[in-house]
Amino acid sequence: MEEAASRQINYLRMSITDRCNLRCVYCTYWKEWQKQPAAEILRYEELLRLAAVAVEAGVRKVRITGGEPLVRRGLVGFLQKLNRLPGIDQVCLTTNGVLLRELAPDLYNAGVRHLNVSLDTLKRDRYRRITGSDNLPAVMAGLRQAASLGFHPLKINCVVLRGINDDEVLDIARLAREYPLQVRFIELMPTTSQPWWQRHFLSMAEVRRRLAVLGPLEPLTREATAGPARNFRVPGFQGELGFISPMSEHHCPTCNRLRLSSDGKIRPCLLESQELDLKEPLRQGGSDSFIGFLFQEAIRLKHRKTSHSLPCMGSCPQDLSMVSIGG
Ligand code: GTP
Ligand code: 5AD
Repeated sequence: MEEAASRQINYLRMSITDRCNLRCVYCTYWKEWQKQPAAEILRYEELLRLAAVAVEAGVRKVRITGGEPLVRRGLVGFLQKLNRLPGIDQVCLTTNGVLLRELAPDLYNAGVRHLNVSLDTLKRDRYRRITGSDNLPAVMAGLRQAASLGFHPLKINCVVLRGINDDEVLDIARLAREYPLQVRFIELMPTTSQPWWQRHFLSMAEVRRRLAVLGPLEPLTREATAGPARNFRVPGFQGELGFISPMSEHHCPTCNRLRLSSDGKIRPCLLESQELDLKEPLRQGGSDSFIGFLFQEAIRLKHRKTSHSLPCMGSCPQDLSMVSIGG
C-alpha cells in the first residue's frame, strides 16, 4: 500500500493508430472490429501537445504503440519532435516488426533506442496461424537489422498460448543466450472470448518451470521507469529473460503507466474500462492547464486503485481492444 502511494506515474503509453497489418488471434474480436474514422484519431500535433502537458504532470518516458505504429505515415518526423521535447528522457516503441527492416535506420536516427518487438513463434506456419500473415521472415530480418544498428534495450514479447506455441518457450528463451536481447514471456489476457482464454492460458509459473533446464534464474532489480516485467539473468546468456504475469500475479501496486488510446482517451489502467476524454478539450479550445488537470485526475484515479478485477471476472471485458489501447 505504501509502495502504491509513493510510486511515480512517469510512463505514458501512446497508441497512435488502431490500424494493424496483422490479425493476431488473441488481440481483439476482429470480426466485430471496425476501424476508427481517421478524424477520430489524434493528429501528431495533438499528440505532441499532450506529451508536453504530460511532462508537466510528471511523465518522463513515452512508449509509442498501436495497432501497429509503423503503419502510420509521418511517424519518423513525429518521433524526432517527441524526442526533442524537454523533459522526456526516453522515447520507446512497441512494434510487431513486420516493417522494421526498412524503418529501423530512420527510427534510430529519430532517437528511438528502446524497441519491443512481438514474436510468438519461430515457426513460419505457426506464425501464419497466430497472426494471419506470412511475415515471419520479415520480422526476423527486422530484428537482425535492429540488433545490428544497436537498439538497446531490444526486447522480444512472446505471448504464451497453451496448445499453440507453449512447446517453443525453450527455443524462444534461447534467443537471449545467442543475442543480447531481453526475451519476455507474457500471460494471455482475456481480450477475445472467455472459453478461448481458458483453453490457451498458461501461467508464468508454469513457463518458468519449463525453463528450469536453462539453469538458475537470478533476479534483476527494477529500474525506476520499468514496466510490468520481472527480469532475470541466466548464467551463460548474453541477454535476459522477463516474465509479465498480469493474470496470475498482477503488478498493480508498482504500475507506473498511463495510456492514451488512439482516439484520445486516457486510461489509468489497461484492464479497467474507466477513461477520461482528452480529445474534446483538445479540439474545443481547452487550455493546457485544463488538460493538465485531466492528466492529474487520471493519476489520482490510478493511485486510488491497487488492483484490477480481471482474474476473478466471469467474462471478457467487451471494451478491451488491444488494437486501440495498445497492449
Ligand atoms: P517496457 O518496460 O518499457 O519495456 O514496456 P512494456 O513491457 O510495458 O511494453 P510492451 O508494449 O512491450 O508491453 C508488453 C506487455 O505488457 C503487453 O502484453 C502489455 O499488454 C503488457 N502491459 C503493458 N502495460 C501493462 C499494464 O499497465 N498493465 C498490464 N496488466 N499489462 C501491461
Ligand atoms: N494478452 C497478452 N498480451 C497481449 N498483447 C496483445 N494482446 C494481448 C493479450 N490478449 C501483447 C502483444 C504485444 C504487446 C504490446 O501486447 O503481443 O507484444
